[in-house]
Amino acid sequence: MSATLIDGKAISQDLLVQVGAKVDERLAQGKRAPCLAVVLVGDDAASAVYVNNKKKACEKVGIKSLSYEYGSDFTQEQLLALVDELNADDNVDGILVQLPLPKHLDVQEIIERIRPDKDVDGFHPYNVGRLAVKMPLMRPCTPRGVMIMLEAVGVDVMGKDVVIVGASNIVGRPQALEMLLSRATVTVCHSKTRDLAATVGRADIVVAGVGIPNFIKGEWIKEGAVVIDVGINRLDTGKLCGDVEFAVAKERAGMITPVPGGVGPMTIATLMQNTLDACQLHD
Ligand code: GUN
Repeated sequence: MSATLIDGKAISQDLLVQVGAKVDERLAQGKRAPCLAVVLVGDDAASAVYVNNKKKACEKVGIKSLSYEYGSDFTQEQLLALVDELNADDNVDGILVQLPLPKHLDVQEIIERIRPDKDVDGFHPYNVGRLAVKMPLMRPCTPRGVMIMLEAVGVDVMGKDVVIVGASNIVGRPQALEMLLSRATVTVCHSKTRDLAATVGRADIVVAGVGIPNFIKGEWIKEGAVVIDVGINRLDTGKLCGDVEFAVAKERAGMITPVPGGVGPMTIATLMQNTLDACQLHD
């Protein structure tokens, strides 16, 4: 079998159109446009690209974006003061501090300083807890984007065996909570997992988020399984590739996301949805 490709670009475009329509509706009702503050510290090249794409998406859907960019010498105190200022600004609905931050900064302290109702990344422990107790407020963009994508292609996760590879705060852990919320049977694998091949081989749905190119071997995939590859890895050749050995996996899977053009654009479109949601909380 050769898998159906899941077109994340097309699905994310649809979501952007929906968000754009909701923003237009707000404006027609005399309400203000949502506003997202995007903060970039340091000189990580990939982060600069992601931040630019986020700002472009804002423009496309009519969300106002405010840009704050600083060098690697920006201090913890300066960053906390900026977050305080944005927290207090009634015209700002969402605050996004792009990760990774330079090593001298304490990421967790920054995340916990962002007001939970402005935490459009859903990284604040309050929001992680809300998702864990089935009362989500702000939901991390990539895992939420994966759920939106699965729904768009008609995959119902209820009762399915879902195997998540990677237990990061940004992808694996919140993805497990999202899947549980949708009543999947969830297994989370990580570096200490003993028989990864056998566990992945039992999955109806595999979500890969480890950040290692071709880490998940195509031959591990069960015939007909749905494969969601969250990895975006740049090879020495300059080419982007995912965490899954795509060429082999696509011959076994029923559906599979490509890299690029799979989960990546969903993350950004979901950020727009989250910013709209945050704005509605502030009406
Ligand atoms: N770095 C990689 N992914 C993300 C994300 O979803 N949000 C932020 N803020 N930084 C990231």
